[in-house]
Amino acid sequence: MPKEFITDVKTLRDRARKHIENGAVTESYKADRDTVVRLLNEALATEIVCVLRYKRHYFMAQGIHADPIAQEFLQHANEEQGHADQIAARIIQLGGAPNFSPEGLLTRSHSEYVEGTTLLDMIKEDLVAERVAIDSYTEMIRYVGDTDITTRRMLEGILAVEEEHADDLASFLADMDKDWKTRDRK
Ligand SMILES: [Fe+2]
Ligand SMILES: [Fe+2]
Repeated sequence: MPKEFITDVKTLRDRARKHIENGAVTESYKADRDTVVRLLNEALATEIVCVLRYKRHYFMAQGIHADPIAQEFLQHANEEQGHADQIAARIIQLGGAPNFSPEGLLTRSHSEYVEGTTLLDMIKEDLVAERVAIDSYTEMIRYVGDTDITTRRMLEGILAVEEEHADDLASFLADMDKDWKTRDRK
């Protein structure tokens, strides 16, 4: 037997007319909206902290003949900014308010802001932050499940980019390690 469409058209139409002030949030939204907005605000803080850390690393790395790495830091900073914007827009769609306040930013953020003194330190700290982001986005995706499909899809997209970031940084670490070993042999 083919599965029947769950709700008849009349009920769907009637339901859509109720509570139109809720915009994109309809009766089929099954998540706890306050919790999702709170989690998204934590993710927003995480992304903002990552933008700031990558920007700092980008400007600091320029002076140490590390152009490809500096460019990578800049690209990551821009991508984290894009994530922050996506998250803020979704918070609005859910009827919440994005928290951009610098006060308490580091407490809301899952990742840390570590400046690092050498290029190696910077790459390691960024890799740690990416791994924190990967873990927290994975948990959020599992929490949301099928109760808020649009949020989940957005988080899945962001997670994939964080994994790319972690992979880029891990490759830099491996390259640097190789470099030093070659140099030692001379
Ligand atoms: Fe990000
Ligand atoms: Fe990232």
